[in-house]
Amino acid sequence: MIIEPRMRGFICLTAHPNGCAQNIKNQIQYVKSKGAINGAKKVLVIGASTGFGMASRISSAFGCGASTIGVYFEKPASEGKTASPGWYNTAAFEKEAHAAGLYAKSINGDAFSNEIKQKVVDLIKADLGQIDLIIYSLASPVRTNPVTGITHRSVLKPIGSKFTNKTVDFHAGKVSDISIDPCNEEDIANTVAVMGGDDWEMWMDLLKKENLLAPKATTVAYSYIGPSLTEAVYRKGTIGRAKDHLEKTAFTISDKLKDLGGKAYVSVNKALVTQASSAIPVIPLYISLLYKIMKRDGTHEGCIEQIQRLYSQRLYTGGAVPTDTEGRIRIDDWELNPKVQEEVLNLWDIATTENLLEISDLEGYRSDFYNLFGFKIGGVDYTVDSNEMVDVPGLV
Ligand code: NAI
Repeated sequence: MIIEPRMRGFICLTAHPNGCAQNIKNQIQYVKSKGAINGAKKVLVIGASTGFGMASRISSAFGCGASTIGVYFEKPASEGKTASPGWYNTAAFEKEAHAAGLYAKSINGDAFSNEIKQKVVDLIKADLGQIDLIIYSLASPVRTNPVTGITHRSVLKPIGSKFTNKTVDFHAGKVSDISIDPCNEEDIANTVAVMGGDDWEMWMDLLKKENLLAPKATTVAYSYIGPSLTEAVYRKGTIGRAKDHLEKTAFTISDKLKDLGGKAYVSVNKALVTQASSAIPVIPLYISLLYKIMKRDGTHEGCIEQIQRLYSQRLYTGGAVPTDTEGRIRIDDWELNPKVQEEVLNLWDIATTENLLEISDLEGYRSDFYNLFGFKIGGVDYTVDSNEMVDVPGLV
């Protein structure tokens, strides 16, 4: 069928299999062009189908030559209805990995559940024995805690007082003011339960208990800090409390891995257009302005450039892993460069619907957003029929 983007609000309801495949091939090509990385050889990526997780899977496989198991929650296609982009991404990734002689299998389901965790345990036991790197890259609005059975929903709200600032409807290019009421205590607890470190710790406890961690096993989860502009709704808001918890959990896990010589890290990454971030108010406007400056300076990176740099210049340099005073790996260094931030702040003050196209990289934001769903990718012919029914070759 001919597949076109169909938008509803901030999400796209369709995805293009050939576009997603080309997107993955481009990322693989980028990682290969940067040369081999002497890193992990058996890798589990939790949240492996899109964004930073997929970039981690590609960097592991095509940078380090690693066997990879990917866990994700994606929707397969049905006749006449496309799959979600992460499904097509994974199908393309596994096809390329297998063609390159690399082990790659995946499990589709709720990573928060005991059932999926057990499936992963069984797969590692059967195929890989032990693993040496676990990437934790989930972004989800909801989690059912398998111990209590309680379903928690995260919210993106400020804490303490109402937040009012500019935002953009990036489809319409319309700048307006948005006000978000402050959260209550329950909102904070729920957001921490979903996006904090509890589930990460559960995964690591289980993998250790089952003796599936290789000596010196490393685990990395992803966090964000961002500028003062977004602070009230991000780092000092409900999601920020969850990230505080995630960062604290790295120390708890590191203590538990000591006897193996293992370590848990949080890597603080750059703001990027992903399905998760486009849902956060204010962030799309910030990203559009940030991209303008970083592209001009030649310092702009996407998920794949970020994670390739994380692997080659932070995790696997052959020396100690550099961290900040809080023990975090920083690959948001170019974003938070004070000069870049000063320029973004100046643009923020003058941004209006009328001047936005000129002063920001709104076009770049939009194009990245379409790219997430496999649309507007160079070299793909969208006028020809494509088959929506695509299998993931390594799906268990
Ligand atoms: P994303 O939306 O592209 O990817 C989320 C992944 O989680 C997908 O593979 C999805 O299938 C999987 N997933 C969601 N719920 C699941 C469930 N219940 N069970 C199994 N898999 C599930 O998100 P993105 O942006 O790559 O985020 C990953 C991490 O990076 C998050 O912790 C996020 O906070 C962090 N981060 C994101 C930044 C950004 O600007 N996008 C910046 C810095 C950190």
